[in-house]
Amino acid sequence: ETFDATGLHILPGAIDVHVHFRDPGYTHKEDFESGTAAAAFGGVTTVFDMPNTIPTVADGETLKAKHAIAASKAHVDYGLYAVLGEDTIDKVSELIEAGIIGFKCYMGNTFGRIPTPSTGAMLEAFERVAPTGKRISLHAETNSVMERRQKRLTESGRSDPLAHLASRPAVVAVEAVARAAILAEWTGARIHILHISSAAELGPLRDAKARGVDITGETCPHYLMLGEADYARCRGIIRVNPPVRESVNNEPLWAGLLDGTIDMIATDHAPHTPEEKTRADIWSVDCGFPGVETQMPLMLTEVAAGRYDIRDYVRWSAVNPAKVWGLYPKKGAILPGADADLAFVDLNHAWTLRDADLQSRSKISPWDGRSVVGLPRHTMVRGRFVMKDRALVADTKGHGRSVHAIQQMPEAKPLHTDETLAAVIADRPEAAA
Ligand code: DOR
Ligand code: ZN
Ligand code: ZN
Repeated sequence: ETFDATGLHILPGAIDVHVHFRDPGYTHKEDFESGTAAAAFGGVTTVFDMPNTIPTVADGETLKAKHAIAASKAHVDYGLYAVLGEDTIDKVSELIEAGIIGFKCYMGNTFGRIPTPSTGAMLEAFERVAPTGKRISLHAETNSVMERRQKRLTESGRSDPLAHLASRPAVVAVEAVARAAILAEWTGARIHILHISSAAELGPLRDAKARGVDITGETCPHYLMLGEADYARCRGIIRVNPPVRESVNNEPLWAGLLDGTIDMIATDHAPHTPEEKTRADIWSVDCGFPGVETQMPLMLTEVAAGRYDIRDYVRWSAVNPAKVWGLYPKKGAILPGADADLAFVDLNHAWTLRDADLQSRSKISPWDGRSVVGLPRHTMVRGRFVMKDRALVADTKGHGRSVHAIQQMPEAKPLHTDETLAAVIADRPEAAA
């Protein structure tokens, strides 16, 4: 059999560090098979799956059971997150032994209603994780502010989807990013800010980086490309936590990616069924929409438009995620994709995204009808095609493996010495470095 890649570009497969594949517990929304099929169609060769499945991934046994499910169903490689919260502080080593890619900390309440830790519990949890070298990814929204705003809006009888946005002003995220960064600086923990949605979050992120905090951040296509005008068009479908904000945020977020303040693109792929997404109740918990299979075409469209270079895209989609989560081989900077995790893309192919064509079980998104340029034609995972000519390759279910086994986080930063902590307290970052 010959293989012809004429006219195609070969990119490292994307690493999407933020997906919700719902397995086990909500498999009517998605499972590891449908979710990783969606990834394969999107040129994504590795996904990191979030722990808000049932039961919540908060102990070793639950994690092992989830590993078994993923191993039997996945078409692409994956990592699994575990919850870091009040109840898992004493389970940090148990969870690491059972095989995680990193921790997820819910500072704000969202789908799955995972309890949010107090600042004190976060401090303790960060202290516990710091010496392990694992990264803590944060859903950075401040619950108390969020809930008060929502209560007010409900009482005032406002049920328009824009009220959903208004209930979460950017300050909810800014405060949480700043608080997490302070705790990371204090403890030496490595952190990652998930789904950066507003220009205002860039300040505390940039400051923390300048102070030497090991902090990284991601944004998602919907925060870059959608704005308040899309609420009227999409109604409840666009509801997501954090919300899509005013379009004045779009350009600063693009600039943040280009100047390196934001390290990567992830999708927060959050499938729910059409029935769930079209409920009249705008406060329903079914927030989010599928994204893992549309990220690459959406982002490549901006390459075609000349906003940035293909190398910028690869840095955000594959190189930085691999570096940040220790998926580079120990010696030498071998690019991700070098073990033949590859996306074969037609950079000139103009097409239209259609919800009905999604591999995801959730065939409803704000992207339906959107014109894009750039098509993942084939996807290869560790040398084997899993998607070819826009069709799933037979017998690739179960080909996916957990990448925690090859993860090599850089050596853990020691906790502060009395001296460096004193420097932090005295606000002398140069002495703390
Ligand atoms: O919109 C969201 N959906 N935000 C989250 O943080 C969770 C996610 C989900 O699991 O549905
Ligand atoms: Zn989140
Ligand atoms: Zn999420």
